[in-house]
Amino acid sequence: MKVSVKVPATSANIGPGFDCLGLALPIYNTVTIEETVLPGTGIEINMISEEEVMDEMIFDDIPKDENNIVYRAVEMLYNSIGQEPSELKINIQSQIPITRGLGSSAAVIVGGLIAANKLLGSPADETALLSLATEVEGHPDNVAPAILGGFVLSSQEDDGTITYRKLDWPQEWDITVCIPDFELSTNIARSVLPENVPLQDAVYNAKHLAMLIEAVNSKDEKLMKIALHDKLHQPYREKLVPGMKEIMEAFKHEDGVLGCVLSGAGPTMLIISHKYDLDKIKSTVREIWEPQSVKVDIRTLKVEPKGAEILD
Ligand code: HSE
Repeated sequence: MKVSVKVPATSANIGPGFDCLGLALPIYNTVTIEETVLPGTGIEINMISEEEVMDEMIFDDIPKDENNIVYRAVEMLYNSIGQEPSELKINIQSQIPITRGLGSSAAVIVGGLIAANKLLGSPADETALLSLATEVEGHPDNVAPAILGGFVLSSQEDDGTITYRKLDWPQEWDITVCIPDFELSTNIARSVLPENVPLQDAVYNAKHLAMLIEAVNSKDEKLMKIALHDKLHQPYREKLVPGMKEIMEAFKHEDGVLGCVLSGAGPTMLIISHKYDLDKIKSTVREIWEPQSVKVDIRTLKVEPKGAEILD
C-alpha cells in the first residue's frame, strides 16, 4: 500500500507571533510512503527537488537513513501505538525552498506523519499528529498551519499539550515572499536569540500580538500596520540577513503595505499588502538586494486555506 500527502509551505511568526503564529502558502511538498513487500529491504528515502541546483546541493546533506526527520516522525507514530516501522520507501517531492524560512521541514514531517497514519488505519487524530509533529520540529507554529491550512495560532503548554485555533485571514491581503538565494538554518537563527529579554520587550510583543489578532479578526488595516512589529526575534536576527533592515525600512511608510516581517527564522522576507503596486515591491526589494549580490525569487501569493491533503 502506498499513500501520498501534499502539504503546503508555511510562514511562521508573522512579526510579534514568535513561535505561535503561522500561515500556509500555496507552494507544496508531497510525501509518499510505501510499505515495501520484500522483508529485509530496510528503509529507502528519495528526494526530488523541483527547485534550482542550489537546493540539490543542500539535498545531498540531508540524511537518507533513520536520522531523516521524516523517518523519525514516522517512527514516533509507530512507537506511539506500540509498533516498529518495517520496510518503508519514502519519496519526497519538494517545491518548497529549503532553509529559507518557508517551513520545508514542517511540510515533510507533517506529510510523513499523515501518510504513515493512513497506512496504519488512522490511529492518531489531528491533535495527536500535531503533538508528534511539534515534538520533531521543536515548535508548533509551522506544523499547525501545515496540517490545518490558513492562519493558525498555536501554543505548546508546559505539560506538552498543544492548543491551537485557526483564525480567518482576510483573503484580500496579499502576501509577497522574497526568497533570497542564501540559506539560513533555523538552528543558527535560534542560536542568536537571548535566553532572557527585557520586560518592556516582552510587554511590547504581548501588546502587538493582541493587536494583530484583533486586526486580522476585524480586517483592520490601520491596526495591522501598528501590530506587525516585533522585539523578540527580528532585532537579533538582523545581523544574519543582510538587507533585512533596509527592506523593512523601505516599506514602513508606504500606504497599502501593512507590514514587512521575517518569514519564520528567515532569510525570506514577507510583505503583507492590500491594493499596493506589486511591481513596486519587486523593484524595491531587488534594488536593495541586488547590489549586495543577492539574487531573489519574489512571489505574490494568497494564504492557502487548505492544509495537508491525502492524494487519491
Ligand atoms: N518560530 C520559529 C523561529 C520558526 O522563529 O525560530 C522557525 O521555523
